[in-house]
Amino acid sequence: MKKLLILSLALSLFSACVYENEEEAYRTGCNTDNIRYSDNVVRILADYGCAGCHNDMFASGGVNLEGHANVKTVVDNGRLMGSIRHEQGFFQMPRNQVKMRDCDIDKLQAWIDEGALNN
Ligand code: HEC
Repeated sequence: MKKLLILSLALSLFSACVYENEEEAYRTGCNTDNIRYSDNVVRILADYGCAGCHNDMFASGGVNLEGHANVKTVVDNGRLMGSIRHEQGFFQMPRNQVKMRDCDIDKLQAWIDEGALNN
């Protein structure tokens, strides 16, 4: 029983520590190294609900953000960054919501700058 208590105490200390590190990264900047489609990009598009309105079943506005090939199309025609940066001449995305966090926009830009690979 005592061992179990110590173990759970150790675990909670450990997770508090991990949490603080994330907080730190959040405050001090944005890590745009090694952004991968299959990990970061898919996650960001899901987090903001983009994929919910733009997928194989419902391609709102004719835009499909499901699968690398479809995302690449919207990257190449400039509409992805235009819409999430709220540039003039583009519909502002995510639709009817506040702008995405700068760090997430920067991550997508970093991935595009590296060639928008299917990685
Ligand atoms: C609630 C549904 C909804 C969500 C969430 C949403 N969109 Fe859209 N999106 C639309 C609709 C509908 C259009 C067509 C234009 C319009 O009516 O606003 C559109 C248009 C677009 C376009 C074309 C823009 C243009 O000017 O040609 C892009 C690119 C796009 N969305 C990307 C995104 C991204 C990226 C996200 C997430 C950050 C997102 N959308 C979230 C519904 C949505």
